[in-house]
Amino acid sequence: MHKNVFVMDHPLIQHKLTLIRDVSTGTKSFRETVSEIATLMCYEATRDLPLMDVITQTPMQKTTTQVLAGRKLAFVPILRAGLGMVDGVLQLVPSAKVGHIGLYRDHETLKPVEYYNKLPADVEQRDVIVLDPMLATGGSAVDAITIVKRSNPKSIKFLCIIAAPEGIEALTQAHPDVTVYCAAVDERLNEDGYILPGLGDAGDRIFGTK
Ligand code: PRP
Ligand code: URA
Repeated sequence: MHKNVFVMDHPLIQHKLTLIRDVSTGTKSFRETVSEIATLMCYEATRDLPLMDVITQTPMQKTTTQVLAGRKLAFVPILRAGLGMVDGVLQLVPSAKVGHIGLYRDHETLKPVEYYNKLPADVEQRDVIVLDPMLATGGSAVDAITIVKRSNPKSIKFLCIIAAPEGIEALTQAHPDVTVYCAAVDERLNEDGYILPGLGDAGDRIFGTK
């Protein structure tokens, strides 16, 4: 495995991943569980956030404690399916800014097509975590991160739930400076660019559009 790729094998994440893979899991439960997985993954992906010392007065005495340093985070979901992870990560970092990048995969070419782009104005002072449950060919993630890089953030991480080996290869080749977090690396892509075994179309399952 690439040194910048982390597979989160925590039992709670793996249990919830099984729930969303299951074809009999309905929209409500799928949506809630994606959000819960995002919370758990965010906890781990923010492990290296910088801290600074502050003096705190407890009811007993003054003491030196720590808070997050600097301008902190921006989350950038890739529309649509990345939206399903936003509430979950904001549970842990409620003051983070949220940008949006709209991309869809053309079903013929499998290439991403950009249709929306709105990032926080001060993104160059922030660490960015790009969100998308699925890393398949990697085209969407590669393009989204290229777009984010134009705004010069302090750093970029990519948080997905299921990755295909093909997507990891493409993403780490195109953006070797980006740390990738996932809950599973699956077997392969099928001829339509879907991840096997995967969970189907994440956007459709989150929003109930199929
Ligand atoms: C899905 C998924 C990723 C992309 C992954 O989105 O959410 O963004 O496919 O595929 P790739 O790695 O081959 O680019 P989709 O294009 O289906 O759009 P949607 O989220 O609007 O349904
Ligand atoms: N996008 C999805 O939503 N699912 C896949 O398996 C591949 C791309």
